[in-house]
Amino acid sequence: MAGPQPIGDPAPLDGSLPPKALETDSRTFHTYVHVPFCRVRCGYCDFNTYTSNELEGFAPSDFVKNLSSEIELSQRVLASSKRPMSTVFFGGGTPTQLPAKDLVDSLSALVQKFGIVPTAEVTTEANPDNVDFVYLEALKRGGFNRLSLGMQSAVPSVLATLERSHAPENVPFAVKAAKDAGLQVSVDLIYGAPGETMDDWKRTVDAAIALETDHISAYALIVEEGTKLARQIKSGQLAEPDEDLEADKYEYADQAFNSVGLNWYELSNWSRSVETRSAHNIAYWRGQDWWGFGPGAHSHVGGVRWWNVKHPTAYAGRLSQGHSPAAGRETIDHDTGLTERILLELRLVEGLDAQVVKDLNPEAQRAIADQIAAGNIDGGEAIRGRLVLTLKGRLLADGVVRMLVG
Ligand SMILES: C[S@@+](CC[C@H](N)C(=O)[O-])C[C@H]1O[C@@H](n2cnc3c(N)ncnc32)[C@H](O)[C@@H]1O
Ligand code: SF4
Repeated sequence: MAGPQPIGDPAPLDGSLPPKALETDSRTFHTYVHVPFCRVRCGYCDFNTYTSNELEGFAPSDFVKNLSSEIELSQRVLASSKRPMSTVFFGGGTPTQLPAKDLVDSLSALVQKFGIVPTAEVTTEANPDNVDFVYLEALKRGGFNRLSLGMQSAVPSVLATLERSHAPENVPFAVKAAKDAGLQVSVDLIYGAPGETMDDWKRTVDAAIALETDHISAYALIVEEGTKLARQIKSGQLAEPDEDLEADKYEYADQAFNSVGLNWYELSNWSRSVETRSAHNIAYWRGQDWWGFGPGAHSHVGGVRWWNVKHPTAYAGRLSQGHSPAAGRETIDHDTGLTERILLELRLVEGLDAQVVKDLNPEAQRAIADQIAAGNIDGGEAIRGRLVLTLKGRLLADGVVRMLVG
């Protein structure tokens, strides 16, 4: 299930990290928990997730037990460089396929071993179909404070193309239940599904705004190799995504969100205030340290990145032998680190320190001037040493990054 993993270097069986990676500097620490279960797989999705008949004997009820083993391992590996968690994020898959008690027990195990900063953001992703007030209140009581809900579209025909299982009318119920339970709420939208018209997208954006959440993510549909959607497009059964229409949809969403006080702070993310931005995702974009627990999860500590074996059975097998579940790892070299900073920080509304480009690319001055002249980078901000994308630049972000990297 799901696309190929990186190859990388072999990871040591005890999961140990080089001493340099354990020098903590000023980086904050975050945890991610990957819950790889879905009731059905959506046709466009290549995330590391499994339906019940793909689990090859792994029982979801054993998830917490295995997670606890990996938490024990993380304590041995991080030892004196252990820091309290600044954010926690349960993603998937569909974390809410598990009983609320399992999510709360997982969070408690993490908090008990790492500690947590008092204001930490604690999020779980959820599918609108399998949450209600009782479930969400149990999460809130157990320490969660934020819900990220996969709405995707308000239009039944678009949801059908995406093979989403939820009914659009469940979304407002789920949002209300989450708010009543005292959770911050974000909704995820997707634009660019084959056959989705501009009117369909306007309906979706307007419906998302009507939910009055403090945060919305809107992602362009990626046609992932190996998915059912990719096969349907290849065979001509569904139309190819239209890039010009996608750009128009992005501009519509940006303007509509702005008009109700939701402002972009990352290419695909809009928030009502600085406080309601996703602190967890910002930690990724700013290259902080995080341990990703669970099958297929990726981690990054002190310039070393590793990724766990993907299948839950293989993951449980490694842990039961007392071994690290890491399938491979890599040490990020100087130039790769700078390239990644350009790729990630340019996505943010605060932009990127121009010095990062100058440290990587001997032609930086010219590349930056070209992007200002093309209207992709804000000239005023550049004078102050920050590279900030304009709206046009946001639409062409991948190309701008390529030009800056050189
Ligand atoms: C793990 S899912 C969120 C929780 C839950 N499984 C759901 O889908 O409602 C994370 C987000 O990734 C999005 N996603 C998955 N595959 C994608 C793709 N190929 N292109 C764009 N977004 C994608 C999903 O639609 C979802 O909003
Ligand atoms: S519910 Fe979410 S994780 Fe599961 S298949 Fe669909 S998009 Fe992927």
